[in-house]
Amino acid sequence: MEVIIKPGYDQLSAAAAQQIAEVLNRKPNAVLGLATGSTPLGVYKELVRMHREESLDFSRCTTFNLDEYVGLPVTHDQSYHYFMHENFFKHVNVPEQNIHVPSGTTSNFPAFCDWYEQRIEECGGIDVQILGIGSDGHIAFNEPTSSLSSRTRLKTLAKVTIDDNARFFDKAEDVPIYAITMGVGTILEADEIILLANGKGKADAIAQAVEGPVSSMITASALQMHPYTKFYIDQDAASNLKMREYYEWIQMKKPGAPEA
Ligand code: GLP
Repeated sequence: MEVIIKPGYDQLSAAAAQQIAEVLNRKPNAVLGLATGSTPLGVYKELVRMHREESLDFSRCTTFNLDEYVGLPVTHDQSYHYFMHENFFKHVNVPEQNIHVPSGTTSNFPAFCDWYEQRIEECGGIDVQILGIGSDGHIAFNEPTSSLSSRTRLKTLAKVTIDDNARFFDKAEDVPIYAITMGVGTILEADEIILLANGKGKADAIAQAVEGPVSSMITASALQMHPYTKFYIDQDAASNLKMREYYEWIQMKKPGAPEA
């Protein structure tokens, strides 16, 4: 696990977007795992800029989103389908048929979840997965006590997540209670993982994910078991890290470090 502390949101977004662009340039038919929430917006903005100004090409890539609210039609402005279309897909050239966002309106959730897992496998697995983090340490919608080997499934949201996400809805009662989400086990199979966090509100969750014990109480802590995860965070999100100086030291010494 690598912890990369940037001065602010724009810098962490640019650095994470750069890593994704490198994957795409190396492997034009890469499979991208995408996330919603406010945190990845800067990365999407930067990827759109790279597409427009530097011809970053998405024409051969495939995408899988982490999660979706249950019950919201794709046209609802708070559905993750809508979010992805507005903030990313309509600005780049990912072919429509290569886009996968879990269905929150399927009539058969278990069958849909199995199909989603199967589709990821058929496409060769996820090359790089973007993640945000909930204030309770969740990744995707894997709330505390989710099995660390869970797969795509229906999940009941925690009260704190409903409260956190209420800011996007007219009133808290409008936030869906259920979501469909990739599991922690599904996420851990991605080749590379990028976790993004900014702001004081994420400082506790980040400290527990990076330096706490691996525990289903903080599902992001499962990333400690993943061989290639980078946390791109700002100063505020880094503020509770005990080993912060060490992470900064590693980054500072990097360019001249001997080859492993
Ligand atoms: C939701 C999403 C997560 C996201 C989290 C944090 O719960 N399912 O994927 O990481 O919100 O959102 P934000 O980035 O807006 O803080």
